[in-house]
Amino acid sequence: MTEWIDGQALAQWRRMAQQQAQDQGLDPKELDWLLQHCTGLDRLALHLETFTTQTAIPANHNLDALKALWQRRLQNRYPVQYLLGKAPWRQFWLRVSPAVLIPRPETELLIDIVQEQLERPENQALARGNWVDLGTGSGAIALSLADLLPQAPLYAVDKSPEALAVAQQNSQDWGLSEQIQFLQGSWWEPLAQLRGQFAGMVSNPPYIPRQEIPQLQPEVARHEPIAALDGGLDGLDCLNQLVDTAPDYLQAGGLWLVELMAGQAPLIQARLEEQGCYHSIQIRRDLAGIERFVLAYRC
Ligand SMILES: C[S@@+](CC[C@H](N)C(=O)[O-])C[C@H]1O[C@@H](n2cnc3c(N)ncnc32)[C@H](O)[C@@H]1O
Repeated sequence: MTEWIDGQALAQWRRMAQQQAQDQGLDPKELDWLLQHCTGLDRLALHLETFTTQTAIPANHNLDALKALWQRRLQNRYPVQYLLGKAPWRQFWLRVSPAVLIPRPETELLIDIVQEQLERPENQALARGNWVDLGTGSGAIALSLADLLPQAPLYAVDKSPEALAVAQQNSQDWGLSEQIQFLQGSWWEPLAQLRGQFAGMVSNPPYIPRQEIPQLQPEVARHEPIAALDGGLDGLDCLNQLVDTAPDYLQAGGLWLVELMAGQAPLIQARLEEQGCYHSIQIRRDLAGIERFVLAYRC
């Protein structure tokens, strides 16, 4: 149902709400993001306050409901992406709910690494093989892989049925559901029939050391799914499991690629070396210069 908001009243409240955000150390741009989505006003109109002369701005919430949403953001530190039910990621707007991790900008680089690796002449055939996104969450990685690899059968696995439902919905929204099979289970478990047949595995697994989770920003620690964060005592449980199990599933020459956090890359590099089934092991940094990704190839 369309609601109507008075421009003067909106401008007055916006200024006060921006100040509240600043006082709490939050980015006031988040408020405009909320307003853009709820009222359809664009960034320029908000910045120049050209809407103040309008007496009836169409919106999907009335002003009281907008105020209540913003209070939830401020008081509970509820992420604005969950308030809106969507988040931008690469070329997509993805549905998100507290069942899934909000996809992060740094994770976008995983797709650039895949693209770069596929440009190598010896990897041409990989673009037609099976690919898997292990721990798909919102489906962000799987959707981008499907877009990048139109000839590849794609698999997206998550332990959480609620997360898979969100990922599946996202694949339908973007017309990619035919290309991706969504499977519930632990890592490779639902893919037993495809042992040795994967051209690529991409994963952003949980990697936060358990005791560090309460110290994360309240938006993350209080509201994002613990199953998406908790990497065990040292944060390496899932990463180690992926090192140890992938050789059974990757074909010779298949790509192994993960995201991890600062300080973990050399440990995972060492484990890949010890495992003995990988070659061309490399560490890559994110845009902030943090060693964020490790890739390798199955011997
Ligand atoms: C860090 S989140 C990544 C989500 C998404 N791929 C992204 O990059 O935004 C990790 C995901 O792994 C899933 N997960 C955790 N343990 C798992 C397991 N044993 N098997 C499959 N998925 C698992 C979680 O449910 C969560 O969706």
